[in-house]
Amino acid sequence: MHSILITGGAGFIGSHLTRLFVTKYPHYNIVNLDVLTYAGNLENLKDIEDKPNYSFIKGNITDLELLRILFTQNHFTAVLHCAAESHVDRSITDPLAFITTNVLGTASLLQAAKESWIGKMEDKIFYHISTDEVYGSLGETGFFTEKTAYDPRSPYSSSKASSDHIVRSFYHTYKLPVKISNCSNNYGPFHFPEKLIPLCIHNIINNKPLPIYGKGENVRDWLYVEDHVRAIDVVFHSGKVGETYNIGGHNEWTNINLVKELCRQMDEKLRREKGTSEKLITYVKDRAGHDLRYAIEATKLKNELGWMPSLQFEEGISKTIDWYLNNGEWLNHVTSGDYQSYYDKQYHKR
Ligand code: NAD
Ligand code: TYD
Repeated sequence: MHSILITGGAGFIGSHLTRLFVTKYPHYNIVNLDVLTYAGNLENLKDIEDKPNYSFIKGNITDLELLRILFTQNHFTAVLHCAAESHVDRSITDPLAFITTNVLGTASLLQAAKESWIGKMEDKIFYHISTDEVYGSLGETGFFTEKTAYDPRSPYSSSKASSDHIVRSFYHTYKLPVKISNCSNNYGPFHFPEKLIPLCIHNIINNKPLPIYGKGENVRDWLYVEDHVRAIDVVFHSGKVGETYNIGGHNEWTNINLVKELCRQMDEKLRREKGTSEKLITYVKDRAGHDLRYAIEATKLKNELGWMPSLQFEEGISKTIDWYLNNGEWLNHVTSGDYQSYYDKQYHKR
């Protein structure tokens, strides 16, 4: 029986994780703490918002007083920490927002957990959800393992790397029972259309240019979001305290080939003439400090805990496109208001 604080549960990965835990573990009490930035959206959780084991609190993870109250009231036995500023491009424009939430916010959560769990650490779990971007950028060969030295290169990845280090320091110094996983790029339903895949799906639907940074040769390792949260479930319940697990899709694509695959599938689904959407591809100025390649070695997770990705990419992308085509209202809601001014600033300067 757990009482779990999920942070950032209204975001992309957090909403899938919250849904999985609320429905799969009806005997767990789940509290979702989210400040609802532009990326947080309670519409992502509509289907579970009335479940008796679920509640939502609007609040900031940097607010230590609030965290102390929540720990006292709810007797949390575990934290699943997803809340973060998560978009590299925004971290280039506004690095301090990333340091505040990702570093200070994580440290505040650790502090609240430590104060609440002192003298009774056994059976508690502080699970920190992190990214493969902490390892830096690969050349054309090689993979990130759990032993790869950290070499973050963007304000986003360096803030996540800092938070990983602080989590480990609480394990070593205070024996806080932590677990960390570092995952590759996720895709799937409820993904905010500032990231490559949902942005291109949205633009293809609307016949708008598909902005490819640089030459489109950067490589990412894509994992369907439900596979990611399934891995978190496995690590949460069976992973070893103090350990780190890499999670990846064994699924590397250059950006340009990925966008061409999106175009191909969407032409079919939208009954457009073959090649129509590819004409929207537009090469734009490269991202500053653009990491060339990410690729995860996830054999530790497979060998120790038996987790593997379940979906082939073409199938995952097809499901994802179908979701966006069937959820136009969600897409309209998140792309109205502030989105437009973000988009203009981000792309019209390029
Ligand atoms: P997201 O941007 O979609 O969601 C982040 C959520 O955190 C939002 O609901 C937002 O409102 C909330 N939040 C932000 N600042 C907060 C604060 N100060 N207090 C409380 N809530 C706050 O992010 P995501 O893509 O779902 O990523 C979730 C986690 O997974 C992040 O830690 C990210 O680093 C990690 N991750 C993401 C990916 C990916 O491909 N998206 C891959 C690996 C790891
Ligand atoms: P993104 O989805 O932002 O994830 P991350 O930077 O965390 O990997 O970007 C994925 C890749 O796509 C990355 O190499 C940058 C590139 N990209 C574009 O070419 N155009 C775009 O408009 C965006 C948002 C990303």
